[in-house]
Amino acid sequence: MLEDVVQSVDAIVIAVVAIFFLFVGYRPPWWLRTHSDCTKGVRSVPGPYSLPGVGTTWVFCLGVRTLSRLHEYYDDLHARYGPVAKEECLGNVPVVHLFDKRDIVEVLKNGGKYPLRPPAEAIACYRRSRPDRYASTGLVNEQGESWQSLRTCLTPALTSSKTISDFLPEVQQIASDWCNLLRQSRDHESKVSNLGDIADRLGLEITCALVLGRRMGFLLPGGESAIGKSLAEAVRQHFLATRDTYFGLPFWKLFATPAYRRLVKSEQAIYELAVELIRSADDSTKDSAVFRSVLKAEIDEREKVAAIIDFISAGIHTMKNSLLFLLYLVGEHPRVQGKIVEDGAYAKACLTESFRLYPTANALARILDKDTELGGYRLKGGTVVVCHNGIACRDEKNFTDPDKFQPERWLEKTQTSASLILSPFGAGKRICPGKRFIEQILPIVLTHTVKSFEIVAKDKLELQFEFLLTPKGDMAMVFKDRV
Ligand code: HEM
Repeated sequence: MLEDVVQSVDAIVIAVVAIFFLFVGYRPPWWLRTHSDCTKGVRSVPGPYSLPGVGTTWVFCLGVRTLSRLHEYYDDLHARYGPVAKEECLGNVPVVHLFDKRDIVEVLKNGGKYPLRPPAEAIACYRRSRPDRYASTGLVNEQGESWQSLRTCLTPALTSSKTISDFLPEVQQIASDWCNLLRQSRDHESKVSNLGDIADRLGLEITCALVLGRRMGFLLPGGESAIGKSLAEAVRQHFLATRDTYFGLPFWKLFATPAYRRLVKSEQAIYELAVELIRSADDSTKDSAVFRSVLKAEIDEREKVAAIIDFISAGIHTMKNSLLFLLYLVGEHPRVQGKIVEDGAYAKACLTESFRLYPTANALARILDKDTELGGYRLKGGTVVVCHNGIACRDEKNFTDPDKFQPERWLEKTQTSASLILSPFGAGKRICPGKRFIEQILPIVLTHTVKSFEIVAKDKLELQFEFLLTPKGDMAMVFKDRV
């Protein structure tokens, strides 16, 4: 009897080991050490200790790390393992992290015909479950030919220089409303304590004005409308839930985890609010180049709503965070403020330098479309790689005094070699279609703000990872009237 039990336990252990060895591809570290010379493939890439089945996800399961500090975890990964490091997801699927300029450039410049960005699977899964609302997973998550056809139909108006130049007078007006709102939100020491909320309202106003062609009034004092507040909060929850379903264990595939439920709730809220905004479109809305081009695109009607939703969601928080980082750096360096007032090129250089130091999208993920040698390892096509542009931008191999805010470096001709590691909007064919627009408008907002106020950043900036890199908590800064 006892012998039978021992034999069946043995059989189970052998079966489990065989499954991990043959199907999951797991190899214990001692195996990798002895076989590393002949297999300089992904298995030899150094990284945290990987357990069978769960890979390196135990780091997060055991609470050793939290997702809100994921940016610090990657700093450590770089410091410990060097220019190439590997994590393993559930099922020991490798994810390779690249920190070296050469490898990052290699990946970003060779995206192939349809560069593959790993989709947010939970969003894709939810959208597939709602064919009444969505015809596809949308521009941000689609891949291959269907991505290309959406991109071709939906983005030309957004990226056109005419759309942007026609929009600039509107931006001047919005920037002046933003300064009025700042003025009215100060306390007796000229401090604005809820700068994050106010920047959210600016992100909403600008994105809606661009996409829907309509001033929503989110910047009017007391104009914090219910719809604006709900939309900004839903978009924030959407990013947080995307982070938790994307980087956390994928239990949401088995049952509706709290993170998945939050994702669905925020996706539904954004959908309903966007439908309401589209429904209430008036004549001015119909004049918007972006809105018009989406409406007349030859695609399924459902794709049009999804596109408006994706544009609004992609624009609000990225813009808010980028503006907050920019104001913080300028507020910390009073010497640059006079130069911004005098010279438009200098305001642009401040923005570029701010993107170098605090890119809200601090890493870019891709799926390799073919076997590629990176950092001395042969990685197979299909491997997920993450390019850590944010970390590479603070590496002294790539920039002198990398942690210093020196906008001047962007006024020198020699800095052009930084392109591709400084990619705050991504790179290649999947690059952000909002890039040109943002690059034009943020310097305008900055210049207006600096002309109106002397900005002082008093508190130290702390960072948090919310799928995007964001300032932690409510940001407070002083805005003294400039005399
Ligand atoms: C400071 C503001 C912004 C930043 C930092 C930013 C950053 C990014 C990044 C890093 C990507 C991924 C690109 C890649 O994988 O190579 C992206 C994609 C995208 N962004 Fe932005 N973005 C911003 C504003 C906007 C705005 C205003 C819109 C639209 C109105 C927008 C729409 C999109 C869309 C639709 C995609 C997906 C493109 C595709 O996959 O083809 N973004 N953005």
